[in-house]
Amino acid sequence: MRLLIKAGEIITPSERYVADIFCEDERITRIDRNIDNVRADEVIDASGKYVFPGFIDPHVHIYLPFMGTFAKDTHETASRAALVGGTTSFIEMICPARNEKPLEAFELWLSKAQGQSACDFTFHMGATRYDEEAESDFQEIVKRGISSFKIFLAYKGAFGITDQELYNTLMLAKKLGVITTAHCENADLVLELQKKLMSEGKTSPEFHYWSRPPVVEAEGVHHLMTFAEMTGAHVYTVHTSCEESLREAMRGAERGVHVWVETLIQYLLLDRTDAEKPNFEGAKNVMSPPLRDKKNQAVMWNGLRQGFVATLATDHAPFDFTTQKQMGKNDFTKIPNGIPSLEDRINLYFTHGVKGNRIDLHRFVETASTQAAKLFGLFPRKGAIQIGSDADLVVYDADYRGKISAKTHQMNLDYNSFEGFEIEGRPHVVTVRGKIAAHDGKFVGEFGRGKLLKREPTHF
Ligand code: URP
Ligand code: ZN
Ligand code: ZN
Repeated sequence: MRLLIKAGEIITPSERYVADIFCEDERITRIDRNIDNVRADEVIDASGKYVFPGFIDPHVHIYLPFMGTFAKDTHETASRAALVGGTTSFIEMICPARNEKPLEAFELWLSKAQGQSACDFTFHMGATRYDEEAESDFQEIVKRGISSFKIFLAYKGAFGITDQELYNTLMLAKKLGVITTAHCENADLVLELQKKLMSEGKTSPEFHYWSRPPVVEAEGVHHLMTFAEMTGAHVYTVHTSCEESLREAMRGAERGVHVWVETLIQYLLLDRTDAEKPNFEGAKNVMSPPLRDKKNQAVMWNGLRQGFVATLATDHAPFDFTTQKQMGKNDFTKIPNGIPSLEDRINLYFTHGVKGNRIDLHRFVETASTQAAKLFGLFPRKGAIQIGSDADLVVYDADYRGKISAKTHQMNLDYNSFEGFEIEGRPHVVTVRGKIAAHDGKFVGEFGRGKLLKREPTHF
């Protein structure tokens, strides 16, 4: 398949120029002013449009047994949603139960994605326990091309680990050159606060926030910084929601900790009041860490602009409102946690970030694509528009106007937390390794074409 993209404005973290891009055998083979002397199977007129490297979501959940149920998307519905929204690769969290063998969990998660996903994918390996068997499995999993771990300081009794396990995981990560992504919240505090609130009859969704206030998250980040400082391991704080947590990460960085911070589109555009909506509607917006006070939005935007926040992800974790979220009708601690946004991240970020003058085009690409590729061993195969890179490209129509709705979205979910939000721009054409996978909001890709992206450790 030979694909020619004509006259688009190419945007990377450091460059902006108009050129043609020629792709052969899944890769970019030429970038030039006027490429006319080639035989192409398909030609796309990108004049007046941006051309971005395919976007990467570094934090998604697709196959997820969690809180007594399973996340709703399959790798077909999730990859379809990702591609229509401009995300061409994602990194999924493998979240085994503590009694599961890590290698078996890796194989299970891989079997769910392989042969189903229409876009390329890889995994962060969840280290939900640490013992001799787990250690040897983790070494094997890294050899198989998974160069990042995921740990949970929250979810006691499910995925959460002890300090001894945390220390040993980070020691191993340091030895193997693996980066460790971390959910930072103090698990014991969450548990005690949940018990207290429930015993006071505070059972509705808005009390979720009070069981996990900013200080509980900040303590988790501080804790991680201490262990990273002691071990020299490289760490990445996922779904960072508030100023208190960002400050702890920055304090760690000042002391020499190798730390990178991720935030989510939800924290930029939604706030605590969205989880306080009456008639249990707030449950749609229950996630952990919770949506915060609005003042934190400016802090996170500023962090993305200035570079204190490295990446913008989704933490996509879809649970239906009419059935699954109802599990917590009389007990907020039982509401499956998650606000899905895999499909809408890029259009919302472009609308409120670039069009809203909060972020420039270069930081937009860097935080939503290139930085994740660099941190997680995918660059320059992904996250770049250069000769030799995979031809994952997003021809973006900044003149498009539309509205987000569950009625039209591709995700396998009965609501959308961004219902009614206006978007200014959407992908015109999305390619996966040189083949068109989405066109003006329609999926035209191929299920099962997505490949596991094997990654080498780079964090020594
Ligand atoms: O609420 C969330 N974030 N759900 C997904 C699981 C996790 O903690 O990332
Ligand atoms: Zn988490
Ligand atoms: Zn997550």
